[in-house]
Amino acid sequence: MEHENHKEDDISLEKISSAIRSFGKDRRNLIPILQMIQQELAYIPPGAIELVALHLVIGACEVYGVATFYNQFRFNPPGKHAIKVCLGTACHVKGGEIILENFERKLGIRGGETTPDREFSIDRVACVGCCALAPVALVGENVQGHMAPSKVEGLILGFKIEKEKQEREKGQHES
Ligand code: FES
Repeated sequence: MEHENHKEDDISLEKISSAIRSFGKDRRNLIPILQMIQQELAYIPPGAIELVALHLVIGACEVYGVATFYNQFRFNPPGKHAIKVCLGTACHVKGGEIILENFERKLGIRGGETTPDREFSIDRVACVGCCALAPVALVGENVQGHMAPSKVEGLILGFKIEKEKQEREKGQHES
């Protein structure tokens, strides 16, 4: 799996390297380049930071410093199930932080991270516009309202059961 992920990363870098070269070498292009990478790959891999630094002839740490300054960039690939926990005011008041902690504990990762198998990622987001359903989490495109620790548990368990089922079916197919 790890090996497959590396292969995927190489393909991703190939995909964006010519797009990076299509920008001028002016360092004012740094943010637009980072935005393009995030749009193409849904995150900014370490290799991309190096490519941008080489192109703009600046240090990789400068690129990284600028990228981390803005919340819009993520540095881990989004998981197959991208979980976004709302920490806007209404959700915060109704215990959004507790929901976030529950997801983090259940999945063994922190906000902004992705599980090593790339099944799950967790991000914090600002108000997603369904405050009446607070506390809210987005799981993929689905809004999950009135979140509670038991609901976190149920969701993760549901995905794990689904994955096991798919793997069993795949195994039966291959044998
Ligand atoms: S604050 Fe969470 S949906 Fe508005």
